[in-house]
Amino acid sequence: MRTPFLGANWKMNGTRDQLQSLAQTIHQGIDNDNVDVALFPSYVYCSIINSTIKPGYCRLGAQHVSDQENGAYTGEVSASMLKDIGCDYVLIGHSERRHIYQETNAQIAAQYQRALEQHMTPILCVGETSEQKHHKQVESVLAQQLEAIIQQDTIGHLQNGVIAYEPVWAIGTGQVPTAEVINANHHYIRQYLRQYSDVVADSIRIVYGGSLKPDNAQAIFTLSEVDGGLVGGASLQSDAFLTLYGQLLSR
Ligand code: PGA
Repeated sequence: MRTPFLGANWKMNGTRDQLQSLAQTIHQGIDNDNVDVALFPSYVYCSIINSTIKPGYCRLGAQHVSDQENGAYTGEVSASMLKDIGCDYVLIGHSERRHIYQETNAQIAAQYQRALEQHMTPILCVGETSEQKHHKQVESVLAQQLEAIIQQDTIGHLQNGVIAYEPVWAIGTGQVPTAEVINANHHYIRQYLRQYSDVVADSIRIVYGGSLKPDNAQAIFTLSEVDGGLVGGASLQSDAFLTLYGQLLSR
């Protein structure tokens, strides 16, 4: 039985007061560990959010990590720094990093490795653009994104990880793939990993992200291949995020 995962990706939003109050309300609403919940504020608010949610069931995550260990990399933040301030999770290869900041599969694989070295759980984000979907390249894109990590790393490290399937065209747009498509793409990811390891394929959490909201999540969370969600816009409203948590708990 895989423990569901629910992540709140706050992106570059919110003030200190707003995010503290949001974190406080979410923290109060998460009263057991039947779902792994993690909040991903901007780096600058990580420490303050960590003090807001500890002790409790919510965990802290970062939205990005450097592919370098340390040194002269102005503006970057290392995995050891994130670990030091209390991060348990880190998003790796979010589509906004891949597409706006042109991060490559090779850099993403190196970031993944840095997160593992610090015993943080990487949330590997994968997914196709609308153009790739149009050209029926979804499976080959997912395979390339997974293979970059597998080649860099031994497959066993994926066992405790989380993969977020986030079609780029669904992020922040209000468009969501059909339940059949989501389940099929999650199934493809799991079967791809099965070529290397049954243990990994059976234990890894594969969560859905992209315009996830209380009114569409119920149908998605009950899909057999879906182990939770990564939420952007709706995670900025405590009631919407807590509703998603409740839907995941009671599925
Ligand atoms: P969204 O973002 O829920 O606003 O579509 C999801 C994400 O970027 O992880």
